[in-house]
Amino acid sequence: MTPGAAPILSVDSVEVSYGPTQVIFGVSLDVPTGGLCCLMGRNGVGKSTLLQTIVGLQPARSGTITLAGQDVTRRAPYDRVKQGLAYVPQGREAFPYLTVHENLRVVAEASARSDADSVEAALERFPRLRRILDRPAGFLSGGEAQQLAIARALVTRPKLLLLDEPTEGIQPSIILEIEDAISDLKHDGLAILLVEQYVDFAIRLADTYAIMDVGRIVAGGDIATFEAARVQELMAV
Ligand SMILES: Nc1ncnc2c1ncn2[C@@H]1O[C@H](COP(=O)(O)OP(=O)(O)O)[C@@H](O)[C@H]1O
Ligand SMILES: [Mg+2]
Repeated sequence: MTPGAAPILSVDSVEVSYGPTQVIFGVSLDVPTGGLCCLMGRNGVGKSTLLQTIVGLQPARSGTITLAGQDVTRRAPYDRVKQGLAYVPQGREAFPYLTVHENLRVVAEASARSDADSVEAALERFPRLRRILDRPAGFLSGGEAQQLAIARALVTRPKLLLLDEPTEGIQPSIILEIEDAISDLKHDGLAILLVEQYVDFAIRLADTYAIMDVGRIVAGGDIATFEAARVQELMAV
């Protein structure tokens, strides 16, 4: 993380509605360049909606989204991806009938940011995937599918990676592999916005944090200011 540098992502006073129902109310959030921001909060408070809005899959009704110094609020998702944004949705979608290797190659061929080595570079982060390259993605365990989903995002050589609950429903041994991979990516300078309910995992990785409750950011800042007891209270059902 570069202290004092402009943030790679700034979300400023963003509001989002599904039809008549507003779910995001004036949310502002920064991801430091080369840093990891962890977004936490109970189910249904709007974390996934906020990520989808950053990617451009949901329109912001008002507010501004700035990515690497450019206002992308009204830009199409593919244009944001071209600027260096990558998104791993909750649920880790892949093409179920394509193999692990084919899933990576499809992304490499479609992305303007990929190069001859980017599939190989993505696989280096996830040794487990190398052992199952020819397996159809529909036959992976939850942990393998999550690793494939992150690897697919990395093939586009992003500057900022959005991860939506990468540990959800995954066995502990693979959670540690995913944590190691995220930690290595961060050390190599990739900025990450991580949505995570598993607080211990989040704190070990984060530089900054934000807590969301019913569409608003209710606490946040440098991870040094993180108070576990207060956060547990905000996240209690
Ligand atoms: N496609 C949708 N259409 C209408 N309402 C939605 C849609 N997706 C999510 N919601 C609602 O928006 C709110 C925020 O959901 P979500 O962003 O998925 O929360 P989180 O990721 O924090 O669990 C919830 O009340 C949810 O029911
Ligand atoms: Mg969600």
